[in-house]
Amino acid sequence: MFEIKNNELFIDQCSTIELAKKYDTPLYVYSENKIVENLKEIKDAFINKYPNTHAAYACKAFCTLYMCKLMEQEGFWLDVVSGGELYTAIKAGFPMEHIEFNGNNKTRAELELALDNNIGRIVVDNVSELYFLEKLCVEKNTTTKILFRITPNVSADTHEYITTGKKDSKFGIPLDDEIVYPAIKYAIDSEVFDFLGFHFHVGSQLHDNSTHVAALEVILNLLKDTKEKFGYDVKDFNMGGGFGIKYTDADKPIPISEFVDPVMEKLISFCEENNLKMPAVSMEPGRFIVGEAGIQLYTIGNIKEIPGIRTYAAVDGGMTDNVRPGLYGAKYEGLIANKAEEEKDATVYISGKCCESTDIIIKDFKCPQPEFGDILAVFSTGAYGYSMANNYNKNPIPAVVVVKDGESKLIVKRQSYDDMIMNEVL
Ligand code: LLP
Repeated sequence: MFEIKNNELFIDQCSTIELAKKYDTPLYVYSENKIVENLKEIKDAFINKYPNTHAAYACKAFCTLYMCKLMEQEGFWLDVVSGGELYTAIKAGFPMEHIEFNGNNKTRAELELALDNNIGRIVVDNVSELYFLEKLCVEKNTTTKILFRITPNVSADTHEYITTGKKDSKFGIPLDDEIVYPAIKYAIDSEVFDFLGFHFHVGSQLHDNSTHVAALEVILNLLKDTKEKFGYDVKDFNMGGGFGIKYTDADKPIPISEFVDPVMEKLISFCEENNLKMPAVSMEPGRFIVGEAGIQLYTIGNIKEIPGIRTYAAVDGGMTDNVRPGLYGAKYEGLIANKAEEEKDATVYISGKCCESTDIIIKDFKCPQPEFGDILAVFSTGAYGYSMANNYNKNPIPAVVVVKDGESKLIVKRQSYDDMIMNEVL
């Protein structure tokens, strides 16, 4: 994916310096080949290895028309969590039967959009949604396939803000017997639901499989209990996403197969031992698919030296295009793309341009002496960068470009000042 030639950084045979000139900075750049390579790892480890499986791309990581199209071409499903993501998929012509809808508070309008478009499945997040969705289906004289998102009551070794499987979570149906079993019975008995089964998502940026394996135990019991109590064979099980990627050398991601194999092996043997029908199995990774496939390019502007303390090199973007350092203390690595082979004899803080002291993109960044006009590449920014971009300080959201085999293509135009005030009224 990366190459260094004549002191310049190349991505998929495109010079990052030329990309910065052509499209301006800040800029998001994605390698299509890398995305496809990541999809292949999922196909090899999961979809093609085990029968009756599929993977949905959790498009919250990076939701654009282009990604919807690419996922369709690659045979992936889509996981959406809002009317906006669903609308993007509709506009991209994505097959509706291959969309699943997650979220802890889907609004009436969002659920109506989903039902009107015959969405593939809705992951019901809580009991009140179950009743509300049934009411909507009755009103519309329609039916839908549903899964239950279960909170398996497991903790994950990741940032607290992206842990989702603990009992005290806003996501999912709690495991209490008096809540979960009546809900299952209700869903099975309802005229409007085709009850498929269970879903969990236990956290994000995970570097070991223990949380998935622990959560699976909960699901196995539910499969058995659903059969024993209600005579019902669970048809589907979704293990969520959360597979970690490499941001810096400190991250040691494990291959997808190390998440998948223990889960599948346990599930298969449990079903055999207990005479249960093996459900279809799915997953919904986001970060893994796009994270390492994306970089960001910035232009370095002012350099501020505080003698005896540190040097700040400021870039033309910041927490508006990548909120992760400010929000989670996320760490990134980078390279001055026009000085790619030069000795790294300086240590600086790369600061953003937003009016916020936490707007530091990389701390203690080792690089050649930075100068006004240098191009900075930040790596592994493909997930939750563009998708969490915002207009703080009225900074426009940058453009997005896809590169492949030496060619580049604009897939999202840079926001203009006019775009930002488009909905404002005097
Ligand atoms: N499925 C569900 C129901 C989810 O809530 C999520 C992520 C995923 C799948 C995909 O997780 P992934 O494979 O990408 O880890 N903004 C945060 C990440 C929030 C993740 C929220 N849910 C960040 O920048 O780290």
